[in-house]
Amino acid sequence: MSKKLFLLTLFLVFVVAFNGIAQDKKSKYVGVKKCVTCHKSEKQGKQKDIWKKSNHSKAYTQLTSKEGLAKAKALGVEDPTKSEKCLSCHAPEFDKKDLWQKNFKIEEGIQCETCHGAGSAYKKKKIMQDHAKAVANGLLETDEKTCLNCHKKDNQEHKGTFDYKKAWDKIKHPVPPKAEKKS
Ligand code: HEC
Ligand code: HEC
Ligand code: HEC
Ligand code: HEC
Repeated sequence: MSKKLFLLTLFLVFVVAFNGIAQDKKSKYVGVKKCVTCHKSEKQGKQKDIWKKSNHSKAYTQLTSKEGLAKAKALGVEDPTKSEKCLSCHAPEFDKKDLWQKNFKIEEGIQCETCHGAGSAYKKKKIMQDHAKAVANGLLETDEKTCLNCHKKDNQEHKGTFDYKKAWDKIKHPVPPKAEKKS
């Protein structure tokens, strides 16, 4: 290898490595609005509509419903929209304000990035289409364990059971096979 080529290679390695690290540290919450630019059509699987219809999209606003306020009162919480005791599950990004981008809205409750991870670094189409690359850029691996962070077996705030299969069936949002083949 010539010296020039060697230096160029070294330079490129640095740029790539440094970029990776910088992106890792800076992953920000871009908000549902951004994600659904590519995840709303029939062909893509209508993730936007499915999520919007689910109670996850209402998890924050629900806190100030009659039910929510009553539950808060019973648990000695004055304002559930300010208390970690409720927000830790109903809008878990409440304490990461420095990572919210312009379109991120806490009022949207449990949103795409709550389960899939802050998306500023993985939201590009080229990265998204490659699972390994997406994960390297902050996409979280999601499965039953994701749900159990909040649907806890020993949930003090809510009694009840969690059946992953049944629950997933209610909120699943797959990409239809046809769209997968085309992309
Ligand atoms: C520029 C378009 C675009 C944007 C913006 C985008 N995605 Fe994607 N996403 C895709 C494409 C393309 C795929 C590949 C699957 C497909 O063909 O629909 C994908 C796949 C995914 C997958 C499955 C990936 C895997 O490997 O398991 C998840 C989860 C996902 N997107 C979530 C999100 C979230 C959350 C956001 C917002 C932070 C987002 N996407 C923003 C285009 C996009
Ligand atoms: C450990 C996570 C967690 C915490 C903390 C939490 N919630 Fe919930 N909340 C849930 C889950 C999960 C559900 C959905 C239960 C279901 O449908 O199976 C839920 C549902 C609700 C509902 C819908 C009605 C119902 O009871 O199903 C209200 C209202 C509510 N929570 C209010 C609150 C308030 C107020 C607080 C704070 C005092 C709070 N929650 C704290 C996880 C939590
Ligand atoms: C960040 C916390 C959190 C995570 C993670 C989470 N949930 Fe929830 N889930 C909630 C809360 C809170 C509610 C109740 C929202 C409300 O009614 O205010 C809920 C409600 C639900 C409901 C009943 C409401 C409906 O839409 O019909 C289902 C089903 C559900 N979750 C399934 C799941 C599944 C499956 C997973 C994992 C893939 C999951 N959840 C992950 C917090 C969470
Ligand atoms: C409550 C948690 C939760 C929320 C909220 C959520 N997802 Fe997902 N998502 C999952 C899980 C779990 C999977 C399945 C992962 C698997 O099977 O490997 C998934 C899968 C996907 C896939 C891949 C589907 C496929 O067939 O490959 C896409 C795309 C996706 N989600 C986009 C979104 C978008 C966009 C939003 C917001 C509008 C969103 N998700 C909200 C938990 C969630």
